[in-house]
Amino acid sequence: MKDIIIVIICYLIGNISFSFLLTKLKLKKDIREFGSGNAGTTNVLRVLGKKYAVMVLMGDVLKGVVAVLIGRLFGSSQVVTILCGLAVVIGHNWPALMGFRGGKGIATSIGVFLVYDPIIALICIAIGIIIIAVSKYVSLGSICGMAIFPLVNLVFSRGIQNFIFAFIISVIAIYKHRANIGRLIKGTENKLKL
Ligand code: G3P
Repeated sequence: MKDIIIVIICYLIGNISFSFLLTKLKLKKDIREFGSGNAGTTNVLRVLGKKYAVMVLMGDVLKGVVAVLIGRLFGSSQVVTILCGLAVVIGHNWPALMGFRGGKGIATSIGVFLVYDPIIALICIAIGIIIIAVSKYVSLGSICGMAIFPLVNLVFSRGIQNFIFAFIISVIAIYKHRANIGRLIKGTENKLKL
């Protein structure tokens, strides 16, 4: 029972949307009415600028960090920690408190894996950042960084349990980027402007 409560708490932590809250605070509007319609860092960068984007990024990463720490400290097994990590990402992407329309889960997934498996996380983050820097497409860097994630787990022999965890997180991220993938193919995706 305790494990179930912990996982539900992590889902609810995922529901705390910093992009939504900061845009409401600043513009009295819903971030999902602007730009890509996504409740995330990149869209806040478009709408509110760098300072707010950094705050959203840090807040969303922190949610992932907190969820894994909760799983580790209070969960009864590593599987519970994994479920806490999945729950916070699902809570961010499909938040019940926001009509199930949330973000794409990249920053929160980064937070989860920075604690769960820092080396794997840093490799994927580095590859994602390089792709963003070269292409100027945040979505492309996010998709590629997440797509290689299960593969990096395999290369570093992290075991089947961690591979499945990474695979699910990766599939969720790519699924959430399906509109971006369509725009990338058509050549109409928004480029990063700093
Ligand atoms: O993490 C989200 C990013 O990859 C794309 O965001 O707003 O361009 O859909 P956006």
